[in-house]
Amino acid sequence: MIIKNVTLETVCGITSPLPKNERMEVAFAGKSNVGKSSMINALMNRKALARTSSQPGKTQTINFYNVNSEVYLVDLPGYGYAKVSQSEKEKWGKLIENYLHKSPMLKAVFLLIDIRHEPSANDKIMYDWIVSNGFDPIIIATKLDKIKRSQIQKQLKLVRTGLGVKPGTVIIPFSAETKQGRDEIWAYIEGLMKE
Ligand code: GTP
Ligand code: MG
Repeated sequence: MIIKNVTLETVCGITSPLPKNERMEVAFAGKSNVGKSSMINALMNRKALARTSSQPGKTQTINFYNVNSEVYLVDLPGYGYAKVSQSEKEKWGKLIENYLHKSPMLKAVFLLIDIRHEPSANDKIMYDWIVSNGFDPIIIATKLDKIKRSQIQKQLKLVRTGLGVKPGTVIIPFSAETKQGRDEIWAYIEGLMKE
């Protein structure tokens, strides 16, 4: 994908209505700090349009990035952030659930999992949630630069089995540092744009 222009077009909190976009949307879900916003920046060739932080809980709204007026990359708030109150967690859960459930232009959901760790109970819940909304999640194994090459296959297997993914599930290793996996993710999105 040749990036011509990108804008943060819509920011949705719990009380804001979802935008009625005319272009396809693809969303990125995953626990706090897994690297969703960093990955969106890497996809858009931007350093910091999507705000990132080493502190979990940075993205607290649903952010719609318009790319070339062709497709929206949708940054979702992370889950599993311990320092947030239970009522906040429930609000974010509802926000994400409502979005997955009610977005006619949402064509694919990517679920990001840190390649270093076995998926958590929340990751599994999120995976099942995405499936129950009728999507086949594409798994992105993030922070690839943090492990040795010799560990990659073993860790990918841990992610697959930990989530209990359906056979044929696409899993793409990715690093926002080296940009490895970027072209593969765009190729997948561009494939959807042609459907
Ligand atoms: P929330 O908005 O809190 O849900 O987090 P997020 O999933 O958007 O994570 P974010 O992109 O803010 O990244 C969290 C931290 O991980 C930041 O310090 C990033 O620099 C770092 N990070 C993200 N991706 C990578 C990666 O591929 N490699 C390395 N080494 N660090 C990464
Ligand atoms: Mg974020």
